[in-house]
Amino acid sequence: MVAHRYQLYLLAILLSLALYQVSKPLPTHVSPAEQARRADILARCAYAKAPAGPPPTFHARQQSDRYVRGTNPVLVKNATIWTGGDVDEVVRGDVLLAHGLIKAVGVVPLDAYLTGAEMVNLEVVDVGGAWMTPGIVDLHSHIGVGSSPELNGADDTNSLKAPILPWLRSIDGLNTHDASYELARSGGVTTAQILPGSANNIGGQAFVIKLRDTQERSPSGMLLEPPHTLSINGSSHLNNPPRWRHMKHACGENPSRVYSQNRMDTQWNFRRAYDTARQIRDAQDAFCARVEDGRWDAVRRMDEDVVRRMDVDVTTEVDGDGVWDDWSHEVADGEFPEDLQWEALVDVLRGKVKLAVHCYEAVDLDGIVRLSNEFKFPVASFHHAGETYLVPDLLKKTWGGAPSIALFASNFRKKREAYRSSEFAPRVLAEHGIPVVMKSDHPVVNSRYLLHEAAQAHYYGLDASLALQSVTSTPAAALGMGHRIGSIREGYDADIVVWDSHPLALGATPQQVYIDGIPQIKSSHVSHKPRSSHCAPNTPDFDAEAAAAVSHVGLPPLEPRALAGRAIFVNVSSLWTRAGGEVVEVEVEREAAGGSLVVVEGGRIVCIGSCASYGGTVETIDLKGGSIVPGLTTYGSPIGLSEIRLEASTNDGSVHDPLSASPAPPMIGDTIIRAVDGLQFGGRNTLLAYRGGVTTAVSAPTGSFLQGISTAFAVGAPNALQHAIVKSDAALHVAIGHGGSASVSTQIAALRGLLFGTGGDEILQRVRNGSAPLVVAVESADIMSTLLRLKATYPGALALTFAGAAEAHLIADEIAQAGVSVVVTSNKPYPWTWDQRRILAGPPITEEGLVARLLRAGVNVGVGVVDEYNARNTRFEVAWTALESNGRIDKATALALATTNLEKALGLSPERMPNDLIAYQGGDVFGFESKVVAVMSEQMGRTDVFV
Ligand SMILES: *[C@@H]1O[C@H](CO)[C@@H](O)[C@H](O)[C@H]1NC(C)=O
Ligand SMILES: *[C@@H]1O[C@H](CO)[C@@H](O)[C@H](O)[C@H]1NC(C)=O
Ligand SMILES: *[C@@H]1O[C@H](CO)[C@@H](O)[C@H](O)[C@H]1NC(C)=O
Ligand SMILES: *[C@@H]1O[C@H](CO)[C@@H](O)[C@H](O)[C@H]1NC(C)=O
Repeated sequence: MVAHRYQLYLLAILLSLALYQVSKPLPTHVSPAEQARRADILARCAYAKAPAGPPPTFHARQQSDRYVRGTNPVLVKNATIWTGGDVDEVVRGDVLLAHGLIKAVGVVPLDAYLTGAEMVNLEVVDVGGAWMTPGIVDLHSHIGVGSSPELNGADDTNSLKAPILPWLRSIDGLNTHDASYELARSGGVTTAQILPGSANNIGGQAFVIKLRDTQERSPSGMLLEPPHTLSINGSSHLNNPPRWRHMKHACGENPSRVYSQNRMDTQWNFRRAYDTARQIRDAQDAFCARVEDGRWDAVRRMDEDVVRRMDVDVTTEVDGDGVWDDWSHEVADGEFPEDLQWEALVDVLRGKVKLAVHCYEAVDLDGIVRLSNEFKFPVASFHHAGETYLVPDLLKKTWGGAPSIALFASNFRKKREAYRSSEFAPRVLAEHGIPVVMKSDHPVVNSRYLLHEAAQAHYYGLDASLALQSVTSTPAAALGMGHRIGSIREGYDADIVVWDSHPLALGATPQQVYIDGIPQIKSSHVSHKPRSSHCAPNTPDFDAEAAAAVSHVGLPPLEPRALAGRAIFVNVSSLWTRAGGEVVEVEVEREAAGGSLVVVEGGRIVCIGSCASYGGTVETIDLKGGSIVPGLTTYGSPIGLSEIRLEASTNDGSVHDPLSASPAPPMIGDTIIRAVDGLQFGGRNTLLAYRGGVTTAVSAPTGSFLQGISTAFAVGAPNALQHAIVKSDAALHVAIGHGGSASVSTQIAALRGLLFGTGGDEILQRVRNGSAPLVVAVESADIMSTLLRLKATYPGALALTFAGAAEAHLIADEIAQAGVSVVVTSNKPYPWTWDQRRILAGPPITEEGLVARLLRAGVNVGVGVVDEYNARNTRFEVAWTALESNGRIDKATALALATTNLEKALGLSPERMPNDLIAYQGGDVFGFESKVVAVMSEQMGRTDVFV
C-alpha cells in the first residue's frame, strides 16, 4: 500500500515537472483558455511558414475532390493521345475516365480499375484514331467577371477604388451564367485563371475555375483547389497544408490611364505596398520566433483595449479629389500580427502566391524584376509581355528564376506598349529556355479560340510540342496546378479534349470535351476535315523574319523589295487569277523537268508552263509546290486610318455624330466625310496585311450613325499619289444599333430622311439611284428586319449591304430575297453586345456557321475583320469558314468571300479590280504551310518580293 502511494506521489511530481517544462518560463498557472490561445498562435506561425502546394500524398487519391457522384465511367477508345509530356509524347490507345480522374492511358485492362457494377455503367466511345489532348488551360481570362454580352451594370473586372487592392478577390464578381462559358468549353478550354483587370497596380486575388456547370450552381463550386483561407465550408485553414494562391499585378499604360499616375508612381505604389507587407511579415516572424522559443511573456496579452500601432501607413483609397487617404495598421498586443487587407501580399513574400503580372515594355519588366529582388518574391507569369522576347537576360534575373511568359499570337499594336510585340516572340523566348504560354485575356481574344493562338505561334516557328504545352501543361505549372491538370496521365483530373483534326491544324475544333470526366458537348456537330488536317502542319521557315524582329528591337522593316524586271517562279502547283469579274483556276502545265514555271515581267504574267525562251531572268523564286492566287481584299477595320488604336495622334479620328446632343463643328466644304482624305500609308498593320496576301483595303471613316464614304486603296502603296487609290468613293456607310447617341427609331428615321430626301452630297444621289451601295453596320436581326422593311418601301433600286450582321442567320432567307449583301466581320462569332447576342456559334455547337448559312440561303457574302491587326489574318479567317463547312465551301467560293463577293458588297466592280497576284511558298493560300513571298502588281508595274 505504502509503496503504491509513494509511486503515485512520484508520478505526480514528474507530471508537474513536465508541465512546468512545457509552460516555461511562465511559472504561473496557465488557464485552458490561454492554452488554447497559445495553440492557435503556434498553429498560425506554423501555417505562415509552411510552403504552398499539394501534399506529398496527393497522388494516392483514388477519386477527385471534384468528382460528381453518379458520373458514369468513360472509356475513350482508339485515340491518338498527345499527353502533354516534356517530350513529343504520343500514345495510341484508350483512356479510362472514372471517379473524376484519368485512371489509365494506352492499353486499359478494365477489370483492374472498375468494379462489376461500374462496368455495367461504362460508356464506351470509339473515336477512330482522333487526336486527344489534355483540356486547354487558360492562364489569363476574365470570363464571368466581365460580361458577354457587355452590360454596364455587369462588369466586375476592375475595381476603381485605388491602385493597390491586394485584398479583393475575383471570385466575388464571378457570374455563373455568362454566355462565354459554353463557348470556351466548345473550344476545349476546361480550366481558366480568372484574373481581376489591369486598371490597378494590384487588382486583387485571382482564382482558378473549371468551366463546367455544377450541381450547386455557385461560383465557389467552380473553383479548382481553392486556398483554404477562402473558408468555403467553415473548416479552419489551419488544419490543412496551404494551397497555392493567385494574384494579379499590372504596370504600364492601363493603371496609368485609370488613375492620374505614371510609371514612376506605379513603381512607388508597388514598393510602398510591399514594404507594408514586409513589415507585417517581419513582425510575424519576430513574434513567432519568441513563442516558438516558449517566451510567452514577451508576447503577453494585455488589456483588450490596448493596441499597438504598427508603424505602417497604407494607401488604400482615393478620395473624390484623387488624393490618397492613409490608413494605419493596428495590432492588438499579444496577438499574432496580422491584417486582413495585407495577408495576401504577405503570402506573396512567403512565396505562396502564383503572381500574374500584366507588363509589356522593357521599362515595366525591369521595374518588376527589381521589385522582386528588392523584396525577394517570385513571379509566376508575365502577361501580354510584348517586349519580353527582347529582354530574355532581364527575365532570368527575376527573383526565383524567369517567369512563364503569357502572350497573344497576333493581337498587337493597339497602344505604344504593344507596338513592338511580335508573332515571333514565342519561338524566340523558347530558344532562350523560357516557358511560353499562349493566353486569351478573354474577351480580348475569345477564350474559345485559345488553341488557335498556340497554332499561330506554331505557324510562326514555335516547336509543335511547346505550342501544345503553351495551352496545357505550361500554364498548369504556372498556376501551381501541374500536379493535376494540363497532362494526360494516370491520376490526373479527367479533363480531356477529342479534336476533329490535329490540334495545331488550322480550324481544329473539339468533337468532345470532358471536364472531371463529364462530357460537356450535348450533341456535337463534327465537321469532316481534309486528310492534310490530321497531321501537324509543316510550317514555313521564318528564321530570317524572327532574327530581324530581334535585331530591329521589335520594329523590323516591312517594306518589300521591288523588282521591276523579270521574275520566274518555279515549282508552282496551282495558279488562280481574276478573269471577267471572277477568280478562276488556270491550268499550269508541268515542265518535263518537273514542277511548272510562271514568268512575270513588270508585275504581269507573261508565260505559264514551258517557258524555255525566258532565260536571263532577274530572279528565280522557288515556290516549293506553292500557289499563285489573287490578292485579297479587307474590310471592317479602320486600316489605313488608324495606326495605334488608342493613340489619337496616330489616327484619323472619329467623325461627328449628327444625332448626338453636342453641336456639329462649323463645316467648310463637304458635310459627308470621305475616308480617302484621311488615308495614311506605310503603317505596320497595313504592311503586315500586304505581307499576308491582302492587296486592297476598303476603309470607312470611324463614327456612329453617319460614318461617311469609304475608299478602296492599295495597301502596298507607299503614299496616296502612287497607284494607291483603287476607288476613291466606294460606298456610303452608316451604323445603326442600340446604345448609340439616339434611339434606334431615331437612327432609322434619320436614315429614311437621307434616302427619301433630295439634294445633298453626290454620294447621296448615287445611293438614291442605286449606283452606290448603302453599307449599314448592324448586328441585330430586329434592326436588320426594320431595314428590310424600309428597303421594301423604297421606290427605286437600293443597293443595301449589312456589315457585321452577327444575327443575320435568323433572317437569312429574307435577306437573300431582298437582294441584300452581307459582310460578316466576326467570322469567329462572339456576343460582344446585346445586338450580337444571338450568334450562330458554328461547330461543334451548331452544324453551320454564319457564312455557310448565308451562302446556303443565296446571299452575296463577304468576309471582313473588325481589327486592323487582324487584316493580315484574312486568309486564315476565310480558311476557317471553309474548313468547318463540311466541304460546302470550295476553294473558289472561299476566294470569292475575300475578293469578288466582298467587292460587290462594297460597291467595287470585281471586273475593274487590279489583277494583283500573290505567290505563296510551300502550300496553299488557305493553310498553315505556306507564306507569302511575292506580290505581282500589274497596276504598279512591279513585283514586290519578301525574300
Ligand atoms: C483506330 O482508328 C483508325 C482510323 O479509323 C483505324 O485505322 C484503326 O484500325 C483503329 N484501331 C483500332 C485498334 O481500332
Ligand atoms: C472543408 O474543405 C477542406 C478543403 O478546403 C477539406 O479539407 C475539408 O475536409 C472540408 N471539410 C468539410 C467538413 O467538408
Ligand atoms: C516542288 O515542291 C515540293 C514541295 O516542297 C517538293 O516535294 C517537290 O520535290 C518539288 N518539285 C521540284 C521539281 O522541285
Ligand atoms: C445616279 O446619280 C449620279 C449622281 O447624280 C449620276 O451621276 C448617275 O448617272 C446616276 N445613275 C443612274 C443609274 O441613274
